[in-house]
Amino acid sequence: MRMVDLIIKKRDGHELSDEEIKFWIDGYVKGEIPDYQSSAMNMAIFFRGMTKREIATLTDYMEHSGEVIDLSEIEGIKVDKHSTGGVGDKTSLVLGPMVAAVGGKVAKMSGRGLGHTGGTLDKLESIPGLIIAKSKEQMVEQVNRIGLAIVGQTSTLVPADKKLYALRDVTGTVESIPLIAASVMSKKLASGTDVILLDVTVGEGAFMKNMDQARELAKTMVGIGKSLNRDTVAVLSDMSEPLGFAVGNSLEVKEAIDSLHGKGPEDLMELCYTSGSIMLVQAKVCKSIEEARKKLHEVIENGEAFEKFCLMVEAQGGDVSYIRHPEKFEISKNIVEIRSERDGYIKEINALEIGISAMKLGAGRETLEDVIDMSAGIVLAKKVGAKVTRGDLLCTVYTNKTPEEYLPVLDEIRQAYAYSDKEVKELPVIREIIREA
Ligand code: URA
Repeated sequence: MRMVDLIIKKRDGHELSDEEIKFWIDGYVKGEIPDYQSSAMNMAIFFRGMTKREIATLTDYMEHSGEVIDLSEIEGIKVDKHSTGGVGDKTSLVLGPMVAAVGGKVAKMSGRGLGHTGGTLDKLESIPGLIIAKSKEQMVEQVNRIGLAIVGQTSTLVPADKKLYALRDVTGTVESIPLIAASVMSKKLASGTDVILLDVTVGEGAFMKNMDQARELAKTMVGIGKSLNRDTVAVLSDMSEPLGFAVGNSLEVKEAIDSLHGKGPEDLMELCYTSGSIMLVQAKVCKSIEEARKKLHEVIENGEAFEKFCLMVEAQGGDVSYIRHPEKFEISKNIVEIRSERDGYIKEINALEIGISAMKLGAGRETLEDVIDMSAGIVLAKKVGAKVTRGDLLCTVYTNKTPEEYLPVLDEIRQAYAYSDKEVKELPVIREIIREA
């Protein structure tokens, strides 16, 4: 078999056989197939798509490209949640402790930032000392003891996705339904969780720009999960504007801490209550969505969710004093306020533009080698729907870049805003819940 023939076959719109998909994935992981041929295959899949069978096969070979973790030593039903990525998406940092505080066993493997979207691991690493590399035994021990671990994918878990994910990020092949579905589901299946809650983001700041695409991705992933007997539910959530107010690593950790203290932004909290109650019912910790929602409110109000987060940070070697006193987080040298240049209602805060701007300010990686500036980012002062008068604060920018570097970015941030003279209704954060393929 020759890789070039498989690329041509997919390029011309034909279906790949199981053996051909295996040849590609095995060869790529072993280093026998070079990046340029995998890039070409990704691009062919991007344009031609894949059948259900091809996606299931790709997911299966990716899942088994490395270690498949057995978490059966964790008592109870293990739950995991995965978002397809967004801007300001600190959901896992709030939702994980909330679900664990009610009694769920959250064994979560997270990823790093991809494209303009942030990654939970990068956010967690803004907490001094915190380690995201844990062995399976350490993860099992931690989840059995405190009910919660958010760790990085080990190098032995789904190596095919590690390589493909990085390659897609720099070759314009991220926004492909088959490739996203196989990437997400191979990781979730290999990480040994029993039930899966998928947060499929939709809108300008997400990889899926409209509801039709998001629904198709959600159904594809729910179908893969169900076919392998994992209870899988997808929540479609809005990502046309950033989630919450903060965008950038330590800025988002601080917003997560506020949220765990009951002072979270409405959209973020609604997403956490909706997703968390589904997860608790999936895990059979609660009998109904209503009971689960009530309990999630209780653990926010009585501080148990916050304490759970502190326990997790401590268990992973992080300095808890930063969580108890978030004012200790380092603040960027340059703090710039952006103000409204007109009266009206905010009609749009383009999440993609805000995500790219935050990356340029230092909060994300433009190339694989870039080192993230944990303090950099943007904090919105107002969300879509807000009434503004000329001179009102729109957002605050944090960066350690030089003025030559950051001044052009300020203009890009201004351009991310659109206004209306008429009142604007905000889209609800929960757009749809998908339970069937
Ligand atoms: N998240 C993933 O894990 N994989 C993708 O391809 C996109 C988002």
